[in-house]
Amino acid sequence: MPARRRRPSEETQTSMFYDLASSSWGEEEIQALHRVIDGGQLTIGPNVRQFEDDFAKKFGVRHALMVSSGSAANLVGVAALFYKKDRPLRRGDEVIVPSISWATTYYPLQQYGLRLRFVDVELESLNIDVAQLERALTSRTRMVVAVSILGNPAALDVLRAFCDTHNLYLFEDNCESMGASLNGKLCGTFGDITTFSTFFSHHISTMEGGVLTTDDTELYHVARSLRSHGWTRDLPSDTTVYEKRSDDFFEAYRFILPGYNARPLELSGAVGIEQLKKLDGMVKIRRRNAALFQSLFGRDERFVIQHERPGAASSWFSFTVVLNPALDIDRRDVMGALKDADIGYRIITGGCFLRHDVIKYFDHDTVGDIVNANIAHDRGFFVGNHPRDLTPQIERFYEVLDRAAVPGRRSPVSV
Ligand SMILES: Cc1ncc(COP(=O)(O)O)c(C=O)c1O
Repeated sequence: MPARRRRPSEETQTSMFYDLASSSWGEEEIQALHRVIDGGQLTIGPNVRQFEDDFAKKFGVRHALMVSSGSAANLVGVAALFYKKDRPLRRGDEVIVPSISWATTYYPLQQYGLRLRFVDVELESLNIDVAQLERALTSRTRMVVAVSILGNPAALDVLRAFCDTHNLYLFEDNCESMGASLNGKLCGTFGDITTFSTFFSHHISTMEGGVLTTDDTELYHVARSLRSHGWTRDLPSDTTVYEKRSDDFFEAYRFILPGYNARPLELSGAVGIEQLKKLDGMVKIRRRNAALFQSLFGRDERFVIQHERPGAASSWFSFTVVLNPALDIDRRDVMGALKDADIGYRIITGGCFLRHDVIKYFDHDTVGDIVNANIAHDRGFFVGNHPRDLTPQIERFYEVLDRAAVPGRRSPVSV
């Protein structure tokens, strides 16, 4: 008898008591993959196009472009701002960025020669401290990068207004916060360009994958060309980005921009269609888990957890804990106890980016002292949230921390 074929959702079933992530796929995704394989077109095609249309509709934006990862979306998005006709970004321009984000939020900025001004985060939200924005502004500032950390909306309305007032681009890296909203408006709809990740552990998973959205048709066409070798083939004939000539032979391989190959597979598009249908339901379950997490940790002074600002609804990528800096709790004790209890944990989104070796390659400075990002780096961590009920895991997580987080073993840290 042939062995039963294992579904990807089984293969990635968590092997730990409480893992960082698990598969969100069901039969629908598997069937979608089979349909693509049976159909024979594995490279970009109608499924990716359909996913893009569904995505744009879901987020109420004009254009959505699927790419190979969230990092690729950031790269193509930043590049697109350099190749637009009106007010393009230029090397040496300044960008205001938060001190905590994923490395590939920052890399394209460095690669395109921008100067980064790092602003501290708020300890309670882990998002950029918007009270520092005016201080961060100089005559060279051209853009702000907004990041909503781990599902929790940043002050996107304030950031949008600040950019409008000062004629700056708002680049919204929403790779961690699909499904979140602020004042009823979905995160990912505030930026001039927004990016999403659909990597395995994120709110929807297309294995690897990312999406760039914008309401600006020129930016969309530039990004579309950049996604595919910088060629013209994927652009409509009425685009303003180039002028089509009549010679089809040369038009077939006509290069207009120094682009990339950042295309997704058709398989990812097909899975994305199914996953997107499930997004709202999955976010609902994540929020139910979050309610339990908040009820256990929210009133315990030893732990600082992420707070939603008024009007914000987090999509709860994961659960962050920063050990109260006013108390002397040794993170190593906590880490050891989590390990023993088979609970997975990580530093919060890589911690304070300024603390990484790679910073030596960046043209950058900081706006005042970076205090909270360093506290999160030294005293914080996150555990996973999944689109399934985690009641036993979260309860055990609290029991473990309750026992391991004992204040007063060393002299208190002053902040
Ligand atoms: C804020 C942020 N931006 C960008 C990315 C990159 O996404 P990807 O892993 O799909 O390349 C991530 C990844 O987790 C992220 O957290």
